Amino acid sequence: MTEPCTLVVFGATGNLARNKLLPALYHLEEAERLAPGSRIVGFGRRDWDDAEWRRRVEEEVAPRARGGFKPEVMARFSERLHFLQGDLTDAAAFDRLRAFLEQTEGLPPNLVFYMAVGPEFYGPVAEGLAVAGLHRREQGWSRLVIEKPFGYDLESAEALEKRLHRHFDETQIYRIDHYLGKSTVQNVLVFRFANLMLEPLWNRNYIDHVQIIHSEARGIEQRAGYYDGVGALRDMIQSHLLQMLTLVAMEPPANLDAESLRDEKVKVLRSIRPITREAVNAQAFRAQYRAGERDGEPLRGYLEEEGVPHGSTTETFAALKLYIDNWRWRNVPFFLRTGKRMRRRNSLIAIRFKHPPQLLFRETPIDQLEPNWILLNIQPSECMRIELQVKQPGLEMRTHTERLDASQCTLQQIGIDAYEALILDVFEGDHALFLRYDEVDLAWRVVDPVLKVWALERDVIASYPAGSWGPPESARLFDRADQQWRNALDE
Ligand code: BG6
Repeated sequence: MTEPCTLVVFGATGNLARNKLLPALYHLEEAERLAPGSRIVGFGRRDWDDAEWRRRVEEEVAPRARGGFKPEVMARFSERLHFLQGDLTDAAAFDRLRAFLEQTEGLPPNLVFYMAVGPEFYGPVAEGLAVAGLHRREQGWSRLVIEKPFGYDLESAEALEKRLHRHFDETQIYRIDHYLGKSTVQNVLVFRFANLMLEPLWNRNYIDHVQIIHSEARGIEQRAGYYDGVGALRDMIQSHLLQMLTLVAMEPPANLDAESLRDEKVKVLRSIRPITREAVNAQAFRAQYRAGERDGEPLRGYLEEEGVPHGSTTETFAALKLYIDNWRWRNVPFFLRTGKRMRRRNSLIAIRFKHPPQLLFRETPIDQLEPNWILLNIQPSECMRIELQVKQPGLEMRTHTERLDASQCTLQQIGIDAYEALILDVFEGDHALFLRYDEVDLAWRVVDPVLKVWALERDVIASYPAGSWGPPESARLFDRADQQWRNALDE
């Protein structure tokens, strides 16, 4: 069991807190993983008291409770909840917070500050906490949790980092990339390093290419204000998809402690071949969804979404081809692709193997010989699949593809949310699944050249119909005609 702590949630009434954090904390309560005595302080502008906040939390949590809402769990959880009204732009609010933390009976001295607020507040809140003396503890510890985006580009990420580090040291900062909390993403490590039979194949001699594909059915919802200035490359590829790439490509770490793991991830990011200005068109593709349909329902185009500026050329689809210049991966392309308003929600890592060196089965022409694939489906179902060639029944020596599914795609029957694992790690002080700043910095260096070229070419953008698997032109990133996107397990 972890040490008890007081978790202060800034932005307690916002989307992230309501949809993710509070349900995750409720589930941790249900699993009896919250230390006895731990408390949760919601900090927000609403004029609420503890009773009102508890009522609101129950309203948010009840429909999201896995396996049915349990009033007795909620009753236990409610006892931990407090609310403090305050405005983050008001310096005095931090003094009031300090007084509240010192004077409220029973609040543990260990502190976690969770910034469930817009990134523009990260710097000011860190400063406010420091001025109020909450960044250091005489007894216990003080931790800061921030979510991507960590900056808007390399420069702004550096500026944010300097600001945070003025008051908090690296051991206090937890940078969340919620993809690292997803269990199939963590499973990549187990799959690779707990199964010896894969290791001899996991390199440029046997692997043709790797695809890391993330498709969302939803559009930008009410987030035009954030999204239009950001786009798909920053929103998904710079963070989540590059993180998945590091896990697929890294060398075995010395052990699974935070620094060993992150050292290996950093080595991968550092080995990614920089995309030169001239190579941007050959290695990157962007597009925006136009009106389309799904299952007969019309879907709006991006430009018709609420709050999107007229004529915006922000990309809602981005694909990148990367090379990792090291002994294991030299010249094996890694394709990263993400899109909003795609046919359906699905994320997967697809590893395609090379063809055997000699064709023995003449009844199956070489161009019809399907390669082996390993597919790690991340969502919505968690599944591992291996595609192998076997003999077709009958007199001819023909091959066809057979699929080996791990546990019929029900690997994880209890869908633990990524945030549950990550919040618990913050309480336990385990940094392994959080980003170290050098990872953030190197990830920005990977995408920065593309962002710079795209920023200059803002006149037109390719489009794809909403509800499709994206623009077919993105296939131009592939080197050969027999390479194509794996959209989902069966497509
Ligand atoms: C967030 C992005 O980081 O990840 C969103 O800002 C995106 O735009 C989301 O929708 C995807 O996460 P998940 O877990 O729903 O695949």
